[in-house]
Amino acid sequence: MPAFEDSDFGVQTPLSPVKSRDSHRFTKVASNGTSFPVGSHGSTISIPGEGNGHNTIEVPATRSSISDTSHLMHNLSLSPSMKDRRGSRNSFGASLPIPRSKRQSRLSSVHYPDGKAQRPGMPPIQPTRDILAAQMQDLSGEKVKAAKDMAFVFDIDGVLVHGDRLIPEGQRVLEILNGDNELGIKIPHIFLTNGSGKPEKPRVEQLSKILHSPISTDQFIQSHTPMRALAEYYKTVLVVGGEGYKCREVAEEYGFQDTVVPNDIVAWDPTIAPYRVFTEGERATSRPRDFSKVNIEAIMVFSDSRDYATDMQIIMDLLRSEDGRFGTVAQDPVSQRIPIYFSQGDMLCPTEHPIPRMSQGTFRIGLEAMYKALTGVDLERVVYGKPELATYKYADEVITSWMEQIHNDERLPSNVYMIGDNPASDIVGGNMYGWNTCLVRTGVYQGEGNDDNNPASFGVFKNVFEAVTTAIKKELGQDFKFGFDETINPVLHGNGTSAIF
Ligand code: G3P
Ligand code: MG
Repeated sequence: MPAFEDSDFGVQTPLSPVKSRDSHRFTKVASNGTSFPVGSHGSTISIPGEGNGHNTIEVPATRSSISDTSHLMHNLSLSPSMKDRRGSRNSFGASLPIPRSKRQSRLSSVHYPDGKAQRPGMPPIQPTRDILAAQMQDLSGEKVKAAKDMAFVFDIDGVLVHGDRLIPEGQRVLEILNGDNELGIKIPHIFLTNGSGKPEKPRVEQLSKILHSPISTDQFIQSHTPMRALAEYYKTVLVVGGEGYKCREVAEEYGFQDTVVPNDIVAWDPTIAPYRVFTEGERATSRPRDFSKVNIEAIMVFSDSRDYATDMQIIMDLLRSEDGRFGTVAQDPVSQRIPIYFSQGDMLCPTEHPIPRMSQGTFRIGLEAMYKALTGVDLERVVYGKPELATYKYADEVITSWMEQIHNDERLPSNVYMIGDNPASDIVGGNMYGWNTCLVRTGVYQGEGNDDNNPASFGVFKNVFEAVTTAIKKELGQDFKFGFDETINPVLHGNGTSAIF
């Protein structure tokens, strides 16, 4: 007689052990008569039948195999959709500071693909070209006005590049917007990426090389760029994510006075991260000190973790500590908890790999679930980046000052087009902010029609070239030409309609 009956394991009819090649496997009969294996509590996890033969006994689980996370996490973490969202991923009344003043000149510089000024897709600079363009623009008043009254906001990953690989249509689009059009005019555009992990200057240098177009730091926003404002609020911060010490560099450039990174903590006390293999090189480059005497005032997750185990352990230690002091555990997990900021919340990121990779959002959700499991309370946190309102407000500032730089006209154009590949990030944010939104199929989104939850207001396009040329034609006329003809004499040829293709 067996010590336990099936019912002791929660196995109910019509489940019954089936003697077959899959001996001891429990099956359920579907309404169409087919049977399929199930575990306890309705799970469909099956164990491969080959291999162990009859030397094993499958004991049904006594606990549900369905993950516990849904009731551990915030609802908004699970509903990144326009339908469920009340306006923001941050539902706690938290505010997100952004820099008030114009961008700092020390961060400002234009980067050319080959280290020297060039006009993308066009012959070397000839002074006559600018004169011709000016004459052409003089004769096309209405079109020029419309060209200065529109702006593009580009997502980067999945729209212009995949990692370090160029999406070819991206190069052509930037040539057009930088003046290779019938008016020879610059059409305003900025870059708004949830990307992160290195200072703006080197990232812009790298991008301008990949895209073969000059890009200025003054038209560029990474997920952590507006977090520069937080340097006015916190002195000693833990900075998490990114390669090596690049995010420390970012934080120092933003003005944080005292930046600590996980390597500093591990170098001080290796037992804090039991699974970490810490190299001599890492020890030599870290900045250990007695962290039991230091109050970390806030945690800044700037970029994707390169070591989930170490970073999660250290973050969790700090969140559960008394006012950010290592070696302590707070009596009350809420009142003594230091704030935690994430630079963006995307779940997935398109890369060179064919299937999008997990991003900071999944790391955050893991932390939220662990925190709730350990403390019983929700983790309050602030998430910057698209689709958060603060990031779009900051983008407005950047567009306005970019307008001043390229057209000496400091104002926000009326027609802003966001081009993105992620409905839950680029599109939902652009829609909430009242921009025209264009969803492209070269990145996260691969669907046929528009996205169900967060439909793009201006439509879905095969790629960035189709999106941009459609938007320009809408604003500047269906006959607008993409290409500047330097052989044309505007005085003889009127309003420039004879420009090339
Ligand atoms: O999700 C991570 C980040 O790489 C996405 O960048 O340019 O698509 O906002 P982007
Ligand atoms: Mg993208």
